[in-house]
Amino acid sequence: MKQPSFKFQSPTGMKDILPEEQVYFDAIEEVARKYASFYSFLRIDTPILEDYQLFAKGTGEATDIVEKQMYVLKTKGDEILALRPEFTPSLARSYFENGMIAWPHPVKLYTMGPVFRYEKPQAGRYRQFHQLNFETFGSKRPITDIEVIWLFYNILKDLKIKDLAVQINSIGDSQCRPYYKKVLVRYLKSQERNLCPTCKKRLKTNPLRVLDCKEEKCQKVISEAPQILDHLCDECKDHFKRVLEYLDDLEIPYILNPYLVRGLDYYTKTVFEIVSQSGPDGRQNALVGGGRYDDLLKLIGKKDIPACGGAMGVERVIALMKESGFKIQQATPQIFIAQLGDKAKTQTLKLMEDLRKMNILTESQLSKDSLTNQLKIANKLNVKFAVIIGEEEVLSKSVIIRDMSNGTQISASFDKAAEKIKQKIKGQKKS
Ligand code: HAM
Repeated sequence: MKQPSFKFQSPTGMKDILPEEQVYFDAIEEVARKYASFYSFLRIDTPILEDYQLFAKGTGEATDIVEKQMYVLKTKGDEILALRPEFTPSLARSYFENGMIAWPHPVKLYTMGPVFRYEKPQAGRYRQFHQLNFETFGSKRPITDIEVIWLFYNILKDLKIKDLAVQINSIGDSQCRPYYKKVLVRYLKSQERNLCPTCKKRLKTNPLRVLDCKEEKCQKVISEAPQILDHLCDECKDHFKRVLEYLDDLEIPYILNPYLVRGLDYYTKTVFEIVSQSGPDGRQNALVGGGRYDDLLKLIGKKDIPACGGAMGVERVIALMKESGFKIQQATPQIFIAQLGDKAKTQTLKLMEDLRKMNILTESQLSKDSLTNQLKIANKLNVKFAVIIGEEEVLSKSVIIRDMSNGTQISASFDKAAEKIKQKIKGQKKS
């Protein structure tokens, strides 16, 4: 039968994470785990699919994410689900569903995994990408905002990302923002003819978003727009003042950006992004985005729980790690076992397991038969010792241990082989 002539490819904007890329994910996860455990954030994983309404309500109906970028599906049971475009509403749902409200507060959680947004793919912007997310539930204090920023800032520094700066702003709260919105809308209406078509729409649905429009046409209008910082209520003003003082005390470089509003509906008070200023112009350079969202948990669980958090774009950070020549610490094998014959192959597996239990990194090539070729590989790998198990060794229940630096060999009984190898490695370390 003639085979159809088509070629399968990964979906647009989604890519395979190949082995050479996995090492960067591992490095990021390791650093994240280290920080999370040190600063008492607990790991959580939530389903990739959630009720569509969770994001419609949580992220916000008028946001680009919900309006244009969500992957929505109807199940056979007529449920409307969405592939998560972010973590924050999922973690808030989980907080209530799993009774975390009864835990000692603040409840500090972290998670890492894929998220999905139907965006126009370009460098640093994908349809499936990964986020590392930290959230704190139950603290109003400005120091909580700072702890989140501090964590991401230091994680990025550990990953050798250079020229970091925090862009920061306050977008007020339900007390002061409505009045500011009125002032802003009044101004924007007077300038409507000078706005791009998207901002003309935003003026009706989400006027604050006009402030971070990148269109040249809108830039002049924005530069003369009233600023939220001039309209904050006393509580928001005090909160923001403390946040900036902490940033000064901790010597975290920051840029006060009055136009930073972020694209999600739930923020109150502090919003921030961490950027690397060493990237070329025009690149998608927000590595981390986050802020305080004191009203979201009320929307989801009807309880007044203040919250704050942020998310790091893993692929964007990996791109910079590669540029900065971040050294991936790859463990190199200490031992190579060369074998000949079927029985020797099973002996090799047994010995590998003994060595694994002793934390001795071992390599073998079970699908190869020629001893000469295997020893060539051992040479290339630069191992300290090669173990040889040939037909004779199988019969005499022994192995040969060869010192690769000078070619000297000793024989050891199979039962004692792992112990002998350990001693040899130790002896070599001492000498
Ligand atoms: P966000 O700014 O939408 O915030 O995303 C956080 C980070 O994810 C961005 O700074 C960027 O590094 C990365 N990112 C976003 N979109 C893409 C994309 N299409 N491709 C590659 N990377 C991308 C949030 O998601 C909030 N949930 C953050 C938060 C947590 N706020 C409070 N808690």
